[in-house]
Amino acid sequence: MEFYEVINKRRSIRQFEDREIPREVLERILDAGLKAPSSNHQRRWELVTLTDKAIIMDLAKFIRPYPCRIGEPKTPQQEMFKIAYPRQRTMIEEAACVILPYFKQQYPLSEDKNGYGLMDYGAAWALVENMLLAATAEGLGSVVHIPVKKEPEQIKDFLKVPDGWSLPALVVLGYAVKDPLLPTQVKATVENKVHWNKW
Ligand SMILES: Cc1cc2nc3c(=O)[nH]c(=O)nc-3n(C[C@H](O)[C@H](O)[C@H](O)COP(=O)(O)O)c2cc1C
Repeated sequence: MEFYEVINKRRSIRQFEDREIPREVLERILDAGLKAPSSNHQRRWELVTLTDKAIIMDLAKFIRPYPCRIGEPKTPQQEMFKIAYPRQRTMIEEAACVILPYFKQQYPLSEDKNGYGLMDYGAAWALVENMLLAATAEGLGSVVHIPVKKEPEQIKDFLKVPDGWSLPALVVLGYAVKDPLLPTQVKATVENKVHWNKW
């Protein structure tokens, strides 16, 4: 797939077919992630990659199903919440692969006074985005879930992750169902978002 086609095609997919992803496809996606830029050229990432359905189902138990009280969505964000909230657990249960890109935080965000704290986190997200785009190029659907509240600790214990590693997002992959639910995308264009030479 051509690069800009990949950029335009990528959407957050939260409904997947019951279909395995070939190992070589997953390895290409993981490799794309690992080619991302990183702060201080550390590439301090360790990717726990789940393909075993039983393990994925056990992991999904830690993800809180979100209640959603939105009846008639009035904005693209509400439309997204209505689709996304109830699917936070099921999208993982349906996934063929979940990648947990752990990174090491050299400067704790809580003690950050100079902005260094965002560097490792930023590098982790560069890796995540590379994988989302690679997944799209491979014809897969993808979405991220941000682990919140007790989820990071529970997942860390479940996967026996050593201390000192942080999880920015779960990268959830699978073959999309036909016509998955997709909210309207908020328009962000060069015309309405870009300031040339000064604000
Ligand atoms: C930092 C970040 C956090 C996100 N967290 C979640 C999440 O926890 N669960 C989810 O279903 N989608 C999550 N998303 C996906 C967004 O909801 C999605 O990107 C947005 O609604 C636009 O839709 P699109 O990706 O199809 O363009 C997240 C995306 C980003 C960049």
